[in-house]
Amino acid sequence: MTAPDSADVLLVHGGTPLRGEIHVRGAKNLVPKAMVAALLGSSPSRLRNVPDIRDVRVVRGLLQLHGVTVGPGDEPGELVLDPTHVESAHVADIDAHAGSSRIPILFCGPLLHRLGHAFIPGLGGCDIGGRPIDFHFDVLRQFGARIDKRADGQYLEAPQRLRGTKIRLPYPSVGATEQVLLTAVLAEGVTELSNAAVEPEIEDLICVLQKMGAIIAMDTDRAIRITGVDQLGGYTHRALPDRLEAASWASAALATEGDVFVRGALQRSMMTFLNTFRKVGGAFEIGDDGIRFWHPGGPLNAIALETDVHPGFQTDWQQPLVVALTQASGLSIVHETVYESRLGFTSALNQMGAHIQLYRECLGGTPCRFGQRNFLHSAVVSGPTKLEGADLVIPDLRGGFSYLIAALAAQGTSRVHGIDLINRGYENFLQKLADLGARAELPDVPVAAAAAG
Ligand code: EPU
Repeated sequence: MTAPDSADVLLVHGGTPLRGEIHVRGAKNLVPKAMVAALLGSSPSRLRNVPDIRDVRVVRGLLQLHGVTVGPGDEPGELVLDPTHVESAHVADIDAHAGSSRIPILFCGPLLHRLGHAFIPGLGGCDIGGRPIDFHFDVLRQFGARIDKRADGQYLEAPQRLRGTKIRLPYPSVGATEQVLLTAVLAEGVTELSNAAVEPEIEDLICVLQKMGAIIAMDTDRAIRITGVDQLGGYTHRALPDRLEAASWASAALATEGDVFVRGALQRSMMTFLNTFRKVGGAFEIGDDGIRFWHPGGPLNAIALETDVHPGFQTDWQQPLVVALTQASGLSIVHETVYESRLGFTSALNQMGAHIQLYRECLGGTPCRFGQRNFLHSAVVSGPTKLEGADLVIPDLRGGFSYLIAALAAQGTSRVHGIDLINRGYENFLQKLADLGARAELPDVPVAAAAAG
C-alpha cells in the first residue's frame, strides 16, 4: 500500500493517557439513513443531532441532486430536509458520488416510489470484506422492481406500484433490513420480514418512519411486519447517539491508561460493549448525560470475544478494543463472524510490537459463514506487549481509529497516513484528540490549531 500525501499524515507522540471529556453526536449508521427516509415524505423533515462527517455530506449531495433542499435548522446540528420537489438527477452527476459511501443503495426504494426509477452508482465504504449487495437487489425484485446492471451502475424501474411481500433474509444484514423498511412503508399491502437485523440504529430508523406515518411492528425473533400506507409526511427527530464512536473513545481510554467522559454515550445501546469492557478490567460509570470510561490501574484481563449481529458484540467495536487487548495479561481470543476480512489491521499492530496471530478456523462457537472458506477471521492476542511508534497507513475507518489508539498508547512517535478516512465517521476527531490532551500534530501544525482550521 502506498502512503497518501503528507497533508494527510498525523504525527502522534504516544505515551500520554487520554484524559478529559468529549461529546458524541448522532450515529453515523443512522443519520444518513434518516436523511434518505426524508425522501419518502410529502412535507419537510427536521433531523437533530447530525454530526459533521463525510457520509452525511455525501447523502446531502445526493439528496440535493434529486431536488431535495437541505439546509440548517434552528439549533446547531439540525438539518431541515424538504422533499416537496423530488426530481430525476443526471446519471453523470450521481456517478460523481460513485465509490464514496454505501448509502446510495438505500435510495432505491424511496426513488422508485417517488419517481418510478433510480440509478445507483458503484458503492464505496470500508474494505473489510467482499461487501456484496445481492440481498438488496433480491429484496427489491421481490417488491416488483426491475433491475438492469450496466457497466456504470444499476438502473432500476418500478413498472407499477411496488407490492408488499414475504421476505426472509439469508443473514440479518443491517443494510438489507433498512432497504426493506424504506421500500415497504409505501408499498401496497403488507410486508413480512424475517431474520431481520435489529440494531439500535434500525429501531431508531423505525421510530423515524413511524413519525412519518408508517405502520411497522417489531415482533420477537427478528420478525418485522410493515403495513404499507399511501402517503407519508415529514418527521422531527433527534438521532440516537453514536455507540460505535463512544466505544472507540472508551477503548482509547483503556489502552492509554486514561480517563474519558463520553458525553452522549447511552447505556441501553452499549450494554454488550459495557459487559465486555468490564470483563477486560476497564471501569465505567453511567451518568444521565454520558458514560465515564477509565483504566482503574493494575493488569487488564485477557478475554474470549466473538463479534455478532445485535444484541451480540458489534463488529465495529472489535478493532479499537483489540488494541486494548494487546495490553491485557494472557491470551485473548477474537472470532470475527460478521466480516470475513476485518483482522488485517493487526499486522500493523504486530509491527508496533504486539503479538497477534491470525487463524482461518473459527475460534469460538458462534455460527459463522467463514470457517470453511479459508478467511483469516480469528485471532489470538498475547499480551501484555509494549507498543513502539511506527509508520502506519490507515486501511479502513475503524482500523484507522485503532491505529490512532495504538499510536497514542505506544512509546515514541508514529506517522499515521491517510487520516482523512477517519472523517468518514468520527466528527472533529482532531479537536477531540486535542481536548483529551493527546500529543499529535499535522506536520508543522499542532493538533489544536489544525482542528480549529
Ligand atoms: N451481506 C451480503 N449481501 C448483502 C448485504 C450484506 O452478503 O447484500 C453480508 C456482508 O458481506 C456482511 C454481512 O452481510 O458479511 C453484514 O453486512 P450488513 O449488510 O449488515 O452491513 P452494512 O449494512 O453494509 C452496516 C454498517 C457497518 C456495520 C454493519 C454491521 C452502515 C453504513 N454500515 O453495514 O458499519 O459494520 O452494518 O453492523 O450502516 C462501520 O461503521 O465502520 C461499518 C462498517
